[in-house]
Amino acid sequence: MKESGVDGTILELFRSGDGLVSGAALSRLLGVSRTAVWKHVKALRANGYQIEAVPAKGYRLLSSPEVLTNLDIAAGLATKRIGSSVVCLKETESTNAVAFKMAEEGAREGTVVIADAQTAGKGRLGRIWLSPAGVNLYCSVVLRPPIAPVAACQLTFLSVVAVARAIESCTALKPLIKWPNDILINGKKVAGLLNEMNAETEKVNFVVLGIGVNLNVRMSDLGEGLLRHPATSLLEAGGVKVNRAEFTRTLLRELDRLYDRFLQEGEGPVRAEWLERSAIRGRSVRVSQGNREFSGVVQGVDSFGALLVQLADGTVETVLSGDVSLI
Ligand code: BTN
Repeated sequence: MKESGVDGTILELFRSGDGLVSGAALSRLLGVSRTAVWKHVKALRANGYQIEAVPAKGYRLLSSPEVLTNLDIAAGLATKRIGSSVVCLKETESTNAVAFKMAEEGAREGTVVIADAQTAGKGRLGRIWLSPAGVNLYCSVVLRPPIAPVAACQLTFLSVVAVARAIESCTALKPLIKWPNDILINGKKVAGLLNEMNAETEKVNFVVLGIGVNLNVRMSDLGEGLLRHPATSLLEAGGVKVNRAEFTRTLLRELDRLYDRFLQEGEGPVRAEWLERSAIRGRSVRVSQGNREFSGVVQGVDSFGALLVQLADGTVETVLSGDVSLI
């Protein structure tokens, strides 16, 4: 049994069948008495799970709590590494900051930190990531890849592709990737990723993949005026509310698959999928790097995640950081 224990396994059983599980089956499958099953059901109810007791038939899960719980996420995850430990917080400054500190203190690879709200969510280039409560996903994942620091930006491919796959699997929407790590729907940003690393000269100690996805937020509630680029949420783009726990589980599973492939085969396959999903391949773009600005045509990305932009004079510029916009 995983760390989610008996309560997690009960949730898993509710999810796997038609929703109704008899007390006898629960007691047999869990290897505990009927009284113990009842106690676990009571504990789950106390944690916000609405569980109906159907006379002579068993129990049925009617709804899960609005706030994400580690039971909700970890139960039935069936991943190799991602989600080895799941910490769900009601509110924190930044899940990246929490995960970074936990990693410094030795947290296992695959540790996931999720918050319902962030009070100082970190975006790229020192910006803030607006993180209201109860509507979106803010999550950070600790990885300990056996790679050199120079290769760490390859991990950006992983989280971006995982988010794109999760969106496709949970909605009817078609996300596109914009270098380096934005996910767009109809040209508007729906997710952002921020990786932070702790490394020595030759070796990465750990990387924290920070993932923020606008799931059910209304742009009017986010204060659109505060945003630098047009933004959207899956709810606004697709018109359907997304189940946050289900989206999170799907995302973590995709990340697990991609990371496994990365460890076995290197960055090639993930980069190939990244390119296929890229919104800017072959397109004319403007690149801003502080005071410097130039434009050209995107040729692809190299194996270190740098954008290759061909300028008018035919030379190819390798872009490691900056803001890129379509012309
Ligand atoms: C961007 O600017 O596009 C990156 C945004 C990254 C936001 C996520 S939300 C979870 C994690 N914790 C943070 O403080 N930031 C990242």
